[in-house]
Amino acid sequence: MPAEPSTPTKPPLPLNPQRRVVLCVGPGGVGKTTCAATLALAAAREGKKVLVVTIDPSRRLAQALGFDASAKPGTELEVQLPAGAAGSGTLKALLLDGKVVFDRLVRGYASDAAAAEKILRNPIYRATTEHLGGALEYAAMAQLRLLYDEGRHDLLVLDTPPTANALEFLAAPDRVQELVTNPAIRLLTGTGTFGARVLGIGNRVVLKALGAVGGGQFIEELGAFLREFAVVLSAFRERAGDFQELLTSAATGVILTTSASQFSVREALAFLEVLRQRSLRVDAVVLNRMIPAFPEPPARERVARALETLDDVGARELEALMDSYRGIRVQGQRSLAAVQTLARAYPSIPVWALPRREPPPNSLRELASLGDQFIRVAG
Ligand SMILES: Nc1ncnc2c1ncn2[C@@H]1O[C@H](COP(=O)(O)OP(=O)(O)OP(=O)(O)O)[C@@H](O)[C@H]1O
Ligand SMILES: [Mg+2]
Repeated sequence: MPAEPSTPTKPPLPLNPQRRVVLCVGPGGVGKTTCAATLALAAAREGKKVLVVTIDPSRRLAQALGFDASAKPGTELEVQLPAGAAGSGTLKALLLDGKVVFDRLVRGYASDAAAAEKILRNPIYRATTEHLGGALEYAAMAQLRLLYDEGRHDLLVLDTPPTANALEFLAAPDRVQELVTNPAIRLLTGTGTFGARVLGIGNRVVLKALGAVGGGQFIEELGAFLREFAVVLSAFRERAGDFQELLTSAATGVILTTSASQFSVREALAFLEVLRQRSLRVDAVVLNRMIPAFPEPPARERVARALETLDDVGARELEALMDSYRGIRVQGQRSLAAVQTLARAYPSIPVWALPRREPPPNSLRELASLGDQFIRVAG
């Protein structure tokens, strides 16, 4: 009897099927954007309707996702899935633009169209949304909440910005809301000199706004802006509920990406602690650009013997090869140490790995094949 044709097995993914939102977080430059695009594409190939919300992708990755210079920020682009995807799956990509999101919030939630226009024209609004620390992060959360409520997608994958302080992303909603809560009291408690401390916004923002408006008018403009913007935010919050509620619900899972460098691993551990304190569900840690552990190189004598059979140039080349082998072996050991450190600190969180690819994955086809290479290495 002929053998049953074996059904192709799906490569495993660090995705929890319960989730409708996946936040890709992690230290700077470790591959958050790449990981978000890879996971989104993999889920779409499995038949899901996926939207990846991405921030500041590298030029080549942006091209792979279909963003060219003419793409308007804030619009969803249909990504053509590579061959072999399951029938009903779709992938869209949205390039997040903080300004566009804020403008949309204002238009959607200001008391009326005239109030919206007034806010949009207010120079302090411009300066604040462009320069307030955490504004992009706030916009990301607002966008996420809106998209989630629309319910057009099975899965939303959110890339997060390269924040200098990894915690900023989670703190941003609180920070911006704090700024606009009770603006009158905030102004009244001012010390007369317009300290950034009093307003709770960065010095740079205050100076920019002062420059744009001119000193005398500034207090007035600021008061007007804060009061009107508070209306927008509270209307938005009323309808959309708290960000925190979505973030901590079972619909949302976090994937923390890190590299094996000691610095990144330390930052990843600090991030995991904050995520735990804030009751977010971390589904996986992904160790990106992992180098496998290579065996020890052959003993010196064996190499020397091998060298005897070669002429000078060959010997030098072999020496160089040995050097790079040792170098890559150190990197492999570092990857292994990173896995061990993460697994020891958080035994209940699975650690997955993605290999380092050369050249870096920059086309849709390369991202698809990277998505087939997730392996669970601990937990
Ligand atoms: N598995 C991989 N193998 C090889 N190169 C990779 C891999 N993953 C990511 N890269 C490369 O590493 C660089 C950083 O990746 P990426 O932009 O995804 O990081 P990021 O965490 O989003 O950075 P930022 O914090 O600046 O937003 C890019 O050039 C990307 O192509
Ligand atoms: Mg990025």
